[in-house]
Amino acid sequence: MRILSGIQPTGLPHLGNYFGMMKPAIELQQKGEALYFIADLHALTTVRDPEALRRNSREIAIDFLACGLDPARACLFRQSDITCIPELSWILSTVTPMGLLERCHSYKDKLAKGLHASLGLFSYPVLMAADILAYDSDLVPVGKDQKQHLEVTRDIAVKINELYGDIFKLPEPMIRDESAAIPGTDGAKMSKSYGNTIELFMEDSPLKKKVMAIQTDSTPVESPKPLDGSPILGIYRHVASSSDYTAMEEAFRTGGTGYGDFKKRLLEGVRDYFAPMRAERQRIASDPGEVERILSNGAEKATAFATPVMDRLRKAIGLR
Ligand code: ADP
Ligand code: TRP
Repeated sequence: MRILSGIQPTGLPHLGNYFGMMKPAIELQQKGEALYFIADLHALTTVRDPEALRRNSREIAIDFLACGLDPARACLFRQSDITCIPELSWILSTVTPMGLLERCHSYKDKLAKGLHASLGLFSYPVLMAADILAYDSDLVPVGKDQKQHLEVTRDIAVKINELYGDIFKLPEPMIRDESAAIPGTDGAKMSKSYGNTIELFMEDSPLKKKVMAIQTDSTPVESPKPLDGSPILGIYRHVASSSDYTAMEEAFRTGGTGYGDFKKRLLEGVRDYFAPMRAERQRIASDPGEVERILSNGAEKATAFATPVMDRLRKAIGLR
């Protein structure tokens, strides 16, 4: 089974990205041939700072490796290193009905957020279809917001197969359960666009500042605290052992502990959970050549997967 997913380098990974995407992706590397890439071509639709794009792409690669992605098992690469992807995207665009893209809500959402209506933003799902179809992917783990893009991918694949014969494998989406989305420091879903994130490997002092600034209500120290919607509990649940978590829940229920104390426990929990990964990160980051080698090797392997698919397609459509 070939598993494929991508992440845009639009910022540094935060706890939501880790528990929602990176951790499950890393676990999946045991289940089949995993291909994970940094979607830098997609990020060009919104990122205008070249240094930030390069830096974030590199940092995400290092974070993935530090968190347990094993380059001997999974293939980690930059989207832009796979030169057939823009070509495939173009070919797919020639059979993609305008109406299919016009219906995509992520495009409409981005315009509503004030983004410039560029052709790239509009055809974003076609590039994503190219990412998926190029490698004969079987399974594509994504968040709910990407579900429609998977449907577009399947529609485009069916269209090509109807026109030219059996070219593409139809990928299955694996939609993550987002009922357990990680809350941000303000209690809403943690997201770069809400400015409420805690980055994975923050230095100690900014990390402390962020955790201590988590929004809380004005329940007095001695009173029981509401459990529902508490960002402290929502994050702690992921980093603490189940007994520590239960103890915190109990302390919320009985009262007598202030939010400041809960935040200190949470800070300890986050520090402890990521301590081994932080050490591994330092080791990896100290050898930039090694990170580059891993990404180049990944790109080479991914290209080898894409080559027979592209040969099949080019031949079928009359290019060779
Ligand atoms: P952001 O909302 O910060 O821009 P992205 O949309 O780039 O994050 O998300 C990248 C991946 O991380 C997606 O697969 C998404 O489902 C996952 N993810 C992002 N935020 C959270 C969260 N708060 N909880 C769980 N998963 C999340
Ligand atoms: N659009 C995805 C996101 O914003 C990233 C992405 C690009 C992707 N190409 C992909 C995800 C292919 C899965 C498969 O999260």
